[in-house]
Amino acid sequence: MGKVTVLDHPLIKHKLTYIRDKNTGSKEFRELVSELAMLMAYEVTRDLELEEIEIETPIKKMMSPVISGKKLGIVPILRAGLGMVEGMLALLPAAKVGHVGLYRDPETLQAVEYYCKMPQDISERKLIVVDPMLATGVSAIAAINSVKQRGGTNIKLVCLVSVQEGIDAVQEAHPDVDIYVASIDEKLNDHAYIEPGLGDAGDRLFGTK
Ligand code: URA
Repeated sequence: MGKVTVLDHPLIKHKLTYIRDKNTGSKEFRELVSELAMLMAYEVTRDLELEEIEIETPIKKMMSPVISGKKLGIVPILRAGLGMVEGMLALLPAAKVGHVGLYRDPETLQAVEYYCKMPQDISERKLIVVDPMLATGVSAIAAINSVKQRGGTNIKLVCLVSVQEGIDAVQEAHPDVDIYVASIDEKLNDHAYIEPGLGDAGDRLFGTK
């Protein structure tokens, strides 16, 4: 079963409070989501492999570690996932970015892929699927399906606000995927919104409400 990590850091808690606040406007909301994504990227990449290279300080030669091994890919789920890309790229500038777009079929309530463009060498990359909200898990599961269908095998899911049932659903569908969240909230309401949550992350990012 994939590991679930709740990032329990004062900076993350602080920024999360302000993205939850309904009085936070889109500009500040975007900045905070970006900063949170950067902080999450720090933890999500904790297991990256290192190799020693020789460098020369002004004083002497030394062996010193640099990132090695598989390259990274960031996969935002459209559209709210876009809000997390810039912050992740700030720490991981060499990562490639794939996109998955999904809509919910009103009859079957299933997520249907309408867009998917992945890095060509997807199977050689460590992939980080990002979406600020993990609610029912339907979108995350479908997005991970899309990534796997195109050859992705090494996948992590990073969300800001989640609920336990969404985590459970992803773990059941994709037991190989580790999940990182900043908070596990109380519950989903009847409209599949997270309570207390932060409302509609896409609308708040892009000012469409
Ligand atoms: N998506 C959102 O943007 N907000 C929620 O609360 C749940 C899903």
